[in-house]
Amino acid sequence: MGNDNVKKILLVSFSLSIFCSVLVCGSAISLKELQQTNKALDIKRNLLISSGVINSSVTEKEKILKAYERVTELAVDINSGSVADDVDTKKLDARKLAKVAGENIVLNSGDDLAKIKTISKVSKVYLVKNSSNQVEKIVLPIHGKGLWSTMYGFLALAPDTKTIKGLGFYEHGETPGLGGEIDNPSWKKQWVNKVALDGKNNPQIVVVKGQVDHSDSANYNKVDGLSGATITSNGVQALVNFWVSDNGFGPFLAKYRNGEVL
Ligand SMILES: Cc1cc2nc3c(=O)[nH]c(=O)nc-3n(C[C@H](O)[C@H](O)[C@H](O)COP(=O)(O)O)c2cc1C
Repeated sequence: MGNDNVKKILLVSFSLSIFCSVLVCGSAISLKELQQTNKALDIKRNLLISSGVINSSVTEKEKILKAYERVTELAVDINSGSVADDVDTKKLDARKLAKVAGENIVLNSGDDLAKIKTISKVSKVYLVKNSSNQVEKIVLPIHGKGLWSTMYGFLALAPDTKTIKGLGFYEHGETPGLGGEIDNPSWKKQWVNKVALDGKNNPQIVVVKGQVDHSDSANYNKVDGLSGATITSNGVQALVNFWVSDNGFGPFLAKYRNGEVL
């Protein structure tokens, strides 16, 4: 058969396309597990950065896993705030469960500050302990709508359950330079020592439009807005307030304050 034979051309093209498809599918399948492992490691790294355990220059797997030994994962029943000891936190995927009927809570639009519609009935909470095994920080997984995307991150609280010790996002699709400034270290630093709950344990964070006078102690609940990104800023305010409220981790935080969480 000559090289210009139509049958031969078709046969070679077909064989080549089958070969390439197998190659692409094979690599996608074999790399999937590695991608998932790397994603899980990145989430741990972000949790540790948000809670001030490591700084953002740490990228080595061994260092991240070593630092993560200080973290105890709890499964928390959102409605009651109780720790669900029968749930294996290693297998708990609240992001997935939020979409599963029966496993989720459907939020009334009036309660849905973070604009996320549904949340998992059970979610992880992380306790960061010091070398004397005392809880230094309570870390809550948080998420909510910005302008373009759902922003996923962590909020670290002091053991008083009110004072913010860190905030960070590990996944979002806001515009770099505008809403994407939620990743700016100097903006994130402003959150440290702001007080998320008022005297009656109601959420009170305000992300203002413009700048806050941080030297004024009356501004203990206020953070600067991101310029040109009011919608993202409002989204962060709403999601922080949602997750510390009674519709989010409020019942768990109340139990923690009452000494009912070991
Ligand atoms: C290309 C483009 C990207 C934008 N990205 C964001 C964003 O990530 N977050 C946000 O709040 N606003 C973003 N905006 C601006 C919003 O459309 C809106 O104008 C803005 O939130 C108003 O806030 P301001 O009062 O701070 O200007 C973007 C606008 C454009 C044109």
